[in-house]
Amino acid sequence: MASDIFLLDDQHRMIRESAREFARREIAPKAKELDETGRYPKEIIEKLSEMGFMGVMVPEQYGGAGLDALSYAIAMEEVSAGCASTGVIMSVNNSLVCSPVVKFGDEAQKKRYLPPLASGKRLGCFALSEPGNGSDAAAMRTAARRDGDHYVLNGTKNFITNGREADVCIVFATTDAAKKHKGVTAFLVDKPTAGLTVGKLEDKLGINASSTAQLHFENVRVPEANRLGEEGAGFKIAMATLDGGRIGIASQALGIASAALEASKKFAREREAFGAPIAKLQAIQFHVADMATRLDAARLLTWRAAAKAATDERFTREAAMAKLFASEAAMWITTTAIQVHGGYGYTKEYPVERHFRDAKITEIYEGTSEIQRIVIGGSELAE
Ligand code: CAA
Repeated sequence: MASDIFLLDDQHRMIRESAREFARREIAPKAKELDETGRYPKEIIEKLSEMGFMGVMVPEQYGGAGLDALSYAIAMEEVSAGCASTGVIMSVNNSLVCSPVVKFGDEAQKKRYLPPLASGKRLGCFALSEPGNGSDAAAMRTAARRDGDHYVLNGTKNFITNGREADVCIVFATTDAAKKHKGVTAFLVDKPTAGLTVGKLEDKLGINASSTAQLHFENVRVPEANRLGEEGAGFKIAMATLDGGRIGIASQALGIASAALEASKKFAREREAFGAPIAKLQAIQFHVADMATRLDAARLLTWRAAAKAATDERFTREAAMAKLFASEAAMWITTTAIQVHGGYGYTKEYPVERHFRDAKITEIYEGTSEIQRIVIGGSELAE
């Protein structure tokens, strides 16, 4: 693979080999069934936890694997190539829940929340979007009112990945709506908690084995000790967290795209037309060439963002570019994979229709392609 030649050290290669081997042996054979039934892949998540993949970047002192963002990107790609639903369950727990606790949590929060999240004993979710706002994250209506040494949360969160199974939610609520984004505060909310209920579960186009739920908060009392960061710091916590999350979704897109490319190459070598395998046809070779080139380019952007995430510098622009390019590449590659398969690609007999359905969400969640362009354009044109 062309993008292997730099950036990866021996440890990264080892992680890739073990993640790939596990994904091929234990995840990919179940992906069709998981897509069809929508069941939570509990047994796979347990094994991923044993491998350290539910807390890849959590420091070892808090029970994590203590690895860097590139290791995380590599593991995410391989797991997602096996099953994209499993990939996003892992991604949310790692980059949207563990990471902000590592970066913004106090010592007590780190000790209490990180070991069970990293070991798979508990699962996390990230509750930012609401029925009335998605891209305009600062426009949230969920409110947190102070009451002595507690806050009382009221509102509804929407499209929450892992929302059905999660035991810990990072919830964003406004403590002062007049201050707009400067009034947003983040909380660690345990589930179950009185007044917190799981509402509607979405019936989706893809990533069916990952739950997408509404969460209702009705007078949910959260101790002050569970506030993550200062009052009013929540919006920046959300944005900085999504920078890391976007590397996870870019990696998920790489996994989906690489599975679609591999399936297409296999099919092209086996399927005959005009007296020879279709792999001999230039029309098919051109498709495969474009798929492989876009995949490598997307991987290079993603690994660059991951490498920068390991520094102290802000990597907002690089993460947005990686997410934008990798998700659009995945959509293009999975569409082309169906074309290479012809009529068979349109059937459930082959996996590429699932890859195509799974790819679409990577252009939407954790910031749509349009939002990534706003972030990149803003950064390019900043004075
Ligand atoms: N890191 C740190 N700070 C940041 C930041 C970042 N990446 N991005 C913005 N900020 C800061 C700004 O510097 C600014 O600070 P000051 O108040 O000090 O000036 C402040 O945050 C407000 O920034 P903006 O004026 O740019 O904010 P905005 O209201 O215009 O919004 C936006 C910007 C880029 C559109 C943002 O709202 C956004 O990213 N929207 C998309 C939301 C999103 O990705 N949702 C995904 C939901 S979660 C999900 O999908 C998870 C799942 O389940 C899989």
